[in-house]
This record gives sequence, C-alpha cells and structure tokens, in this order.
Amino acid sequence: MPPAIISPSVLASDFGQLTAECKRMLRGGAQWLHMDVMDGHFVPNITMGAPVLASVSKGVPGIFMDCHMMVSEPEKWVNDIADAGGSLYCFHIEATSDPVSLIHAIHERRMKAGVAISPDTPSTSISDEVGELADLLLVMTVYPGRGGQKFIERCVPKVAELRARFPDKDIEVDGGVSPKTVDVCAQAGSNVIVAGTAIFGADKPEEVIATLKSVVDT
Ligand code: DX5
Ligand code: ZN
Repeated sequence: MPPAIISPSVLASDFGQLTAECKRMLRGGAQWLHMDVMDGHFVPNITMGAPVLASVSKGVPGIFMDCHMMVSEPEKWVNDIADAGGSLYCFHIEATSDPVSLIHAIHERRMKAGVAISPDTPSTSISDEVGELADLLLVMTVYPGRGGQKFIERCVPKVAELRARFPDKDIEVDGGVSPKTVDVCAQAGSNVIVAGTAIFGADKPEEVIATLKSVVDT
C-alpha cells in the first residue's frame, strides 16, 4: 500500500484566514490540503473556485492542493485549477461521460488525476482502464455537499474492492472520518485520509493528524 497521507479539509476552517489555516495544518504534520470546490449544481452549495485557490497557492509556497471538484462540468475547470496551482484534480465519475479524455487533459496540465465515487455509486463504475490511468481513487463516505456529516460505513467495502483491483494507487476516503472511523478505512486499504471537522474542530489538530497517520501506517 502507498504511504499514509493526511489531507485536512479546509471546508471546516476559517475561510477568512485560509492561508494561515493551511500553514497551521502543514506545521501540524499534514501532507496535503483538501480543497472542496462546489458549484451549486452538482451539489447545492457553492464554496470556492480557482481565484481562491490561486491566493492560497501564492500564500503557502510548496502546498499540495488536493482539489475535490464537486462540479457538474469537470472538463470546464481543468485549466483554471491548473493555473491556480492545483496539484491533484479529482472529479466525480457521475459528472462526466468521458473520464479517459478528462484524465488525459488533467495530466497534460501536469496535475495528478483523481476519480471520486459518491455513496450510491458502485466501485465497478470505475473501469479497469480509468482506474489504471488515474493516480487516486476517492470513495466518499458521506453524500457530497457539506462537512460535518455522519460517516456512512456501508461505503467502506468499496475501498477494499478498489484496493484489490488497484494495489498501487492512492485510495482516499472523505466524509465523517475521525480517529473513531479511520480504522475500518485503513483496514480496507485506504491510505489518503481526508478529515475536516475532526481536525479543525480539535484543540490540538496536530494530535489528530498524528493519530490518523499512525492508524494508516500500522
Ligand atoms: C463533503 C466534502 C468533504 C467534507 C469533509 O462534501 O467533500 O471533504 O468537507 O468534512 P468532514 O470531515 O467534516 O466530514
Ligand atoms: Zn471533499
């Protein structure tokens, strides 16, 4: 399994202090920052887009921005997110009819490509070709749209299914993940852990980050 990566979701941070919040997480031991981009179409909420990401990338040199694109037309934003300094562009399989071309477009812009599946989408919706081309597969453990929701345990078997098919890929879980729910995710084969509320809501985020990382690494 690839090494553990902790990616705090800034959706749970103070957006007024976004750059400082990202720096705080990196100081606290996070490897990546998870940037939830919502367009008000694919999901009801609107969060942030490329201009905000560009500010963060400028303000936090070296940051790895794990961009989770909860958008209806993922093809449309590849160039903007690349120009803004995005490191990984993760689109939803439910939102595109041509994931192969999209992955190629993402790679052409020198970003890693991720493919996300929502709770009701089976792991088989990621074909062998798509899974092999992608760098990361994201299994949502809540319905996309907002932070602070309850972890949906029935999504976890999809992590194991994908890990069996793609032993070398990064497999990310996102939604309701905390020190209480991370064990089952890690056992199923997830190595990239997103957590918003559990990290930003903690008095000592660095301790939560360390706990999540150690569960995956052991
Ligand atoms: C949900 C987002 C998640 C969310 C995670 O639509 O994709 O990244 O912010 O937040 P928590 O960890 O609070 O569930
Ligand atoms: Zn997310």
